[in-house]
Amino acid sequence: MMSVQWLPILPSELLQNTEVLKVLINGKEVVVWRSALGHVQIWENRCPHRSVRLSLGHVDGENLVCAYHGWEFAAQDGSCQKIPAQPEQRAPKSVCSKAYPVSENNGMIWFGGFDHELKPEPLSQQTLFPKITPVHYAGSVLIHCAIDEVSEFLQHLHFRQVSPYCFLGDDEFADVQLIITPTDTEKTTLHALQPQAESVQRSLDSLFQIRQQLEEHQYAVL
Ligand code: FES
Repeated sequence: MMSVQWLPILPSELLQNTEVLKVLINGKEVVVWRSALGHVQIWENRCPHRSVRLSLGHVDGENLVCAYHGWEFAAQDGSCQKIPAQPEQRAPKSVCSKAYPVSENNGMIWFGGFDHELKPEPLSQQTLFPKITPVHYAGSVLIHCAIDEVSEFLQHLHFRQVSPYCFLGDDEFADVQLIITPTDTEKTTLHALQPQAESVQRSLDSLFQIRQQLEEHQYAVL
C-alpha cells in the first residue's frame, strides 16, 4: 500500500482545549479542534447535515456542535451523537463528519492526508527532528510564495533540511526549528519552535525578515 507524508499544519500552542480553527492545507479547508480532554481532531470543514462550515461551531466536552441546527459530532470517529430537534431519535450511523488522520508531536499538530486509502507511515520515521524540551513557540508567518521556493531559501540561509517540512538552525540560530506548511499553491506558512524562551523575539524577527526577503525577492543571507 502506498503511504503519505505527515504534514505539520499548526503549532500545538495555537489550539487550546475547546478551541476550533479553520485551517487551509494545500488550498483545502479543514476544521481543526481540540476537545475538552485535549484530543485534537482534523475534519472536513463541512457539516454532514446541511454543509455549513463546522469551524463556525463550538466544542461541548468531547463533541463538536454545529452552529446551524446544533447537531453534535463525536471526537475520534465523527459520528453524530445528538440531534437537538429530535432528542429521542438516534442519528443514522451514516451521518458522520469526515475525520482525517491526526497526530501531535514535538509542539506541532500533524495531518495524515485527505485520502483514507493511503495510510501515513509512523510519524517518527518521517520527521527526523531532534526532540526539543521544553518547546517554545516563537511565531508563524504566512508567506506569499510556493513551498519549494521557501524550502530552497531556508537552505540558502543554512538551515539544514531534516525532513521535507522541517529545518534546523545553525550557529546563532542553533536548535531553532523552522517548519513549513503548504497552505495553498502560492502560500506557505512558516513556524518557529525552539528550546530557549529568551530568544523567542529574535526568532520571530527572523521570520518577518525571511518573509520580506522572499516576497521582495531579496535573497541576501541574514
Ligand atoms: S447544518 Fe449542521 S446541524 Fe444542520
